[in-house]
Amino acid sequence: MISIAIDGPSGAGKSSIARRVAARLGYVYVDTGALYRAIALFAHRSGIADTDEKALAPRLGEIEVELAYQEGKQHVFLGGEDVSEEIRRPEMSMAASQVSAQPAVRAFLLELQRQMADKYNVIMDGRDIGTVVLPKADLKIYLTASAEDRALRRHQEFLKRGEDISYDEVLTDINRRDYNDIHREIAPLCRAKDAVLLDTTGNTLEQSVALVEQTIREQLGL
Ligand code: DC
Repeated sequence: MISIAIDGPSGAGKSSIARRVAARLGYVYVDTGALYRAIALFAHRSGIADTDEKALAPRLGEIEVELAYQEGKQHVFLGGEDVSEEIRRPEMSMAASQVSAQPAVRAFLLELQRQMADKYNVIMDGRDIGTVVLPKADLKIYLTASAEDRALRRHQEFLKRGEDISYDEVLTDINRRDYNDIHREIAPLCRAKDAVLLDTTGNTLEQSVALVEQTIREQLGL
């Protein structure tokens, strides 16, 4: 099986790009952020604060989280319920970042992510795919863009979905999440030594998709 790891900060376009490139290559696209978001939603629904590791860790065994694919689109199920929409709410972003700093949560999700890469040719995106989850990935890409560019894209996505949130709020959230994701003790966001660095600042989505697809084809000789 071939695995391609794409890591990078929030809003760099990883999901939108990786989903399209995976479809073109016939690979399964695995959005690992959705798994952390599902855990955050579980905590939220159980009345557990997203920083309360002591309360969440013993409950992890109860969580049934699954990924399924319908028409090439990833759906996330929590206890059999499709929560793909709900985990995209703005408050779930920060909550996911908080729960993702907990070692027990990361250990809980590690096997699930590796199993996906054992079963399918994957493009897997996240923060620690090239460094921790799939250190032997066939290709690692670190995808980034300026914080302002990333905030602008996220803000447009929220507006499209009818969320009432300002650009400044989104930028503040992106900066806080970057800080959290980079500074956490376990599996922090960082570029693997052998990752190809791609910067999408100023690119249209189509340009970024072409850049990533071309990089993959060149590097893997596809
Ligand atoms: O990619 P995203 O915005 O959906 O991810 C939500 C949060 O989950 C993000 O702030 C950091 C965390 N995350 C992680 O720690 N490791 C991953 N592989 C993917 C996401």
